[in-house]
Amino acid sequence: MWVRLPPSASVKVGVLTGGGDCPGLNAVIRAVARRSFSRGSDVVGVREGWRGLVEGKFEPLGPREVSGLLPRGGTVLGTSRTNPYKIDGGVDAVLENFRDEGLDALVAIGGEDTLGVAARLTEEHDFPVVGVPKTIDNDLSATDYTFGFDTAVFICTEAIDRLHTTAESHNRVMVVEVMGRHTGWIAVMSGIAGGADVIMIPEFPVSIDDACKEIRSRHDRGKDFSIVVVSEGYELDGLEEQGEVDEFGHTRLSQRGVGDALAREIESRTGFETRVTVLGHVQRGGSPTPRDRVLATRYGLKAADLVHDGSFGRMAALQGDRIVDVSLVEATAELKKVPREWYEVARAFFG
Ligand code: F6P
Repeated sequence: MWVRLPPSASVKVGVLTGGGDCPGLNAVIRAVARRSFSRGSDVVGVREGWRGLVEGKFEPLGPREVSGLLPRGGTVLGTSRTNPYKIDGGVDAVLENFRDEGLDALVAIGGEDTLGVAARLTEEHDFPVVGVPKTIDNDLSATDYTFGFDTAVFICTEAIDRLHTTAESHNRVMVVEVMGRHTGWIAVMSGIAGGADVIMIPEFPVSIDDACKEIRSRHDRGKDFSIVVVSEGYELDGLEEQGEVDEFGHTRLSQRGVGDALAREIESRTGFETRVTVLGHVQRGGSPTPRDRVLATRYGLKAADLVHDGSFGRMAALQGDRIVDVSLVEATAELKKVPREWYEVARAFFG
């Protein structure tokens, strides 16, 4: 049992970043720290996600350490996909190291996996944690947007724009494979923004035959090039999940080579010359967009406020234009999938 903090007490706050990195993590760290400092609290960085709590890796974060972080990509705290529930004695080590470091609260910045651990620790051990929704995939429930997503969409859109000009010059079909794991948010948003001719996502799987029909109908209308955006999680017959499974049970979807396989199928079925571009980790690197910097900053302030109010087990969330707090358990209960109305916007421009 943890002693609940009286509101506005000055406390020692831990911050960790877990899971895949994404632009805006440092902006959240800065905002959590700045708001905490202004309340007279101390801030401690936990290195490499949950691994830092399992192994007791901490570093103090003062004004100097968080200076200049706003535009910086990646995470100064490092990250990992460590799951304390998959390590013998992992959860006990988390609780012990947290106490030994003298921490009163933790801000966990992560996606469904990192925050899933936070939710479980809160439920099972009354652990004083608040969450911040991070992921380029935008697949967390109870928030309209996660930070990092806007930057990924911006990068993909720019790539699609560039692929348009070369596709047109060579009369080619260009297949662009984007990330997103089991949801098609990045594909749909960047596909709409980049004017894709077909978008293939796990939630509304267009068949390869139908995709080829759209491409042929463009050619019949004199459009000799096409852009096809495919999400890495799109299911294609014959493609198996391969490689190692991480501590949260995920394989690397990019290893299945969905873009490559799709490009080969399109070329053999239509006879149109086809190339594939796999955008990969470039979608997660570099500086956050202004929108992500602002969202990350608002999330960080909210998380620090939740800590100082003693509102644990909550996650900062965006609903409409408002930053609110929601239950961590609710946010991690199921993936937020692309709804039909978004896909219909994309589909209106197919072919
Ligand atoms: O969750 C973020 C994400 O970039 C997914 O879109 C992608 O499937 C996965 O992480 C890639 O993970 P890794 O960086 O371990 O290859």
